[in-house]
Amino acid sequence: MRNTLLIGAQWGDEGKGKVVDFLSQDADVVVRYQGGSNAGHTIEIGAERYVLHLVPSGILYPGKTCVIGNGLVIDPAALVKEIKELNERGINTTGRLHISDRAHAVIPYHKALDAARENKLTAAAKIGTTQRGIGPAYADKVNRTGVRMGDLTDSNLAVTLTARLAEKNEQLALLGAPTLDAAAVIAEVQQAAEFLKPYITDTVKLLNDAYKAKKSVLFEGAQGTMLDIDFGTYPFVTSSNPTSGGACVGTGLPPHAVERVLGVIKAYTTRVGGGPFPTELLDDVGEGLRKRGREFGATTGRPRRCGWFDAVVARYSAMVNGVDHWAITKLDVMDEMETIKVCVAYECDGKRYDTVPASISILERCKPVYKEYPGWMTPTSGITRYEDLPAKAKAYVQALCDVSGVPLGVLSVSPQRSSTFRIAV
Ligand code: GDP
Ligand code: IMO
Ligand code: MG
Repeated sequence: MRNTLLIGAQWGDEGKGKVVDFLSQDADVVVRYQGGSNAGHTIEIGAERYVLHLVPSGILYPGKTCVIGNGLVIDPAALVKEIKELNERGINTTGRLHISDRAHAVIPYHKALDAARENKLTAAAKIGTTQRGIGPAYADKVNRTGVRMGDLTDSNLAVTLTARLAEKNEQLALLGAPTLDAAAVIAEVQQAAEFLKPYITDTVKLLNDAYKAKKSVLFEGAQGTMLDIDFGTYPFVTSSNPTSGGACVGTGLPPHAVERVLGVIKAYTTRVGGGPFPTELLDDVGEGLRKRGREFGATTGRPRRCGWFDAVVARYSAMVNGVDHWAITKLDVMDEMETIKVCVAYECDGKRYDTVPASISILERCKPVYKEYPGWMTPTSGITRYEDLPAKAKAYVQALCDVSGVPLGVLSVSPQRSSTFRIAV
């Protein structure tokens, strides 16, 4: 398989975990390049259901090398828990899971600050973060006050954490939140670091050696384009670059190592947390999508906001990521809809928008311009061959590709590994 970069093209939860798992069969190395345990990537294989937060979704294919790249912020205790749970379920991680020594650590004070800052915001201003400490950890990285995974077993870790905590406790007190005890913080981090030590390595070298040896690399994005710190609906975004540009800085592999970009996109749209969402459905139709699509956060359990497919977002994502093919997921969720709408443009203050405006105040007021398509009113989730899909379902998928200008690569009609059609990848 050509080296493939897989990105989320909407607001996350597009089914990236499922598609990465499906493509892992052809890859030698699977690498996550950004985000942290804010991600929740679900994979269903028969009766088994896995939700991965930090570990790449390739881990479920025996023998595949999995890398947590330098671009992540890693909660050491959360990662220990995830590895132990995988091991208890018979998934081996020793010798095949590698953690970048350059990745940053999420320390308990990052999570406390994340929660305290959110609590202070008004309802309209709340980002609705996952409270996994992502923003504060990336802020420390950029501020050059972070702690890297390779430094966790350093003899002066306790001194560093004590100094950092003094400052963080002042901030917590200002926000009216409880302060943290240095000894408890140090003990938690040190204990997790001891467990993770054998996994921590120079993944930049490891990945480049694999690349030079012509191994096939699969890049796994977390979150989605509209949550990107640069290209998303700022400030209602995450603090990293889920878009394809993030893959190089988050792994240390050069741009020419990426040979193909696959955009994962749902046949409709969802979003968790605050911020504008032009095609959101606040009625029974939205409720129906939530129910049929089981749209509840894989990390926080929050109900996901649901709406129609947004081709403005799809075109914008295709543009900023250089998407070669779509992996369209969750087509089956629309099986019972008589009529399906697709947003082809926005209108605001009498002006038509064919791409996503940067201004959040404009986007908040944008009204979708819809085109309607007939539903197929037939179950698709048991279908195992693309040819057997109802004609109207195929026509809808083709319409999504046409309005967004990207051809179909993969199509998915159930959470299962088996109901995935490979069209052009
Ligand atoms: P990710 O964060 O992009 O990996 O996506 P999540 O795992 O958070 O959410 C996607 C959800 O949709 C998961 O529960 C998947 O099991 C499920 N899913 C993935 N593909 C399909 C599909 O084609 N049909 C249905 N019904 N569910 C799917
Ligand atoms: P996966 O990888 C959906 C959202 C949060 C919030 C915003 C910022 O499963 O697609 P953060 O905790 O990152 O500071 O929260 O981003 N968010 C996600 N939404 N899927 C995700 O990951 C998300 N990760 C973060 O809900 O709105
Ligand atoms: Mg998810």
